[in-house]
Amino acid sequence: MGDLFLRVCRGEPVERLPVWMMRQAGRYLPEYRAVRAKADFLTLCKTPELAAEVTLQPVDLVGVDAAILFADILLPLEAMGAELRFVKGDGPSFPQPVRRREDIARLRQPDVEETLGYVFDALRLVRRELEGRVPVLGFGGTPWTLAAYLVEGGGSKHFAHLLSWSYRDPEGLTLLLDRIAEVSVAYLAGQVAAGAQAIQLFDTWGGLLSAERWRRLAMPPLLRIIESLKGKVPVLFFIQGAPHLLPAAAELPVDVLSVDWRQPLSEVRRIAPGKVLQGNLDPGALLGPIPEIRRLTLEVMAQGRGGGHIVNLGHGILPMTPVDHARAFVETVKERSGEIVGTDAPPGDSE
Ligand code: CP3
Repeated sequence: MGDLFLRVCRGEPVERLPVWMMRQAGRYLPEYRAVRAKADFLTLCKTPELAAEVTLQPVDLVGVDAAILFADILLPLEAMGAELRFVKGDGPSFPQPVRRREDIARLRQPDVEETLGYVFDALRLVRRELEGRVPVLGFGGTPWTLAAYLVEGGGSKHFAHLLSWSYRDPEGLTLLLDRIAEVSVAYLAGQVAAGAQAIQLFDTWGGLLSAERWRRLAMPPLLRIIESLKGKVPVLFFIQGAPHLLPAAAELPVDVLSVDWRQPLSEVRRIAPGKVLQGNLDPGALLGPIPEIRRLTLEVMAQGRGGGHIVNLGHGILPMTPVDHARAFVETVKERSGEIVGTDAPPGDSE
């Protein structure tokens, strides 16, 4: 049973560090592009056999220590009644954004089995096909990050509509965040029931807020979700581009803090002592030469010493990454991290 990843989440000692990559089931893999040529992105997400197939690709082709279900953080918003489109080259879009308190009435509280059952079916298939080789992660976006896309109508540089609402009518925006949190609680419980062995929460856009505003607006609905998962499966929290939020993130009752590459893990450890850390090779580094990838991966592992560490990228793998470069990253961790854990007692290793 490949439970290395789960053991590190629980703070248990391990013989080497586990490694996986955010967005590991994606366009850098020719095998993914071949499946994607037959189906658009949403169809892929909604066809459990295809979603399961691409979920397993990086496990078989790159050798990662965890699978992450192929889906998208925005799917529960569609289940709430917001039309969602993925336009080639432009990313996600919501043609009818939710921008005022009155707009919230257009959303429904969906039955997650009925609207998102395809995600649960895919998870069950993945669990069955993995046969315990590696664990499978489920995931969701944080209410703030999901609202960012729904309010803006898609991705954005400044998220001006979201920020405008947050200053004009913070109570109204909080109503929306609470609605999203409620659906997320049911959706993630469904993922766990279907076999997800850990849950990662993505707060891609939390960094738009000051620490004080993040605590006031983003943290309460997020805490509802984390509390609902407590004691069921390990919870991982991903934040990017937000070093100012690390002290607040360190207070969250999550098992693992997943961070980007902008600060060395040794610094993150000082801010979040006692947390298992995940990260944080710059995804851009995988575009460089292989010897440099190996050197930088060793550096990330060295900087992560002093506590539990799941090796990962600092954000999603870039589509133009050569597959053998991704493999070099994974292999370096597998070959060399034994030396690191051998000289560094993880927390809980009291013998
Ligand atoms: O392999 C995995 O990590 C699992 C699947 C996964 C996807 N999206 C598949 C995907 C996960 C965990 C996500 C999370 C996600 N989705 C986030 C949070 C993480 C982050 O990147 O900050 C966000 C913000 C989204 C929303 C989203 N989905 C955007 C902005 C885009 C367009 C950008 C892009 O890369 O094209 C997507 C599309 C998307 N989600 C793709 C994949 C594989 C590309 C779709 C394609 O095949 O064309």
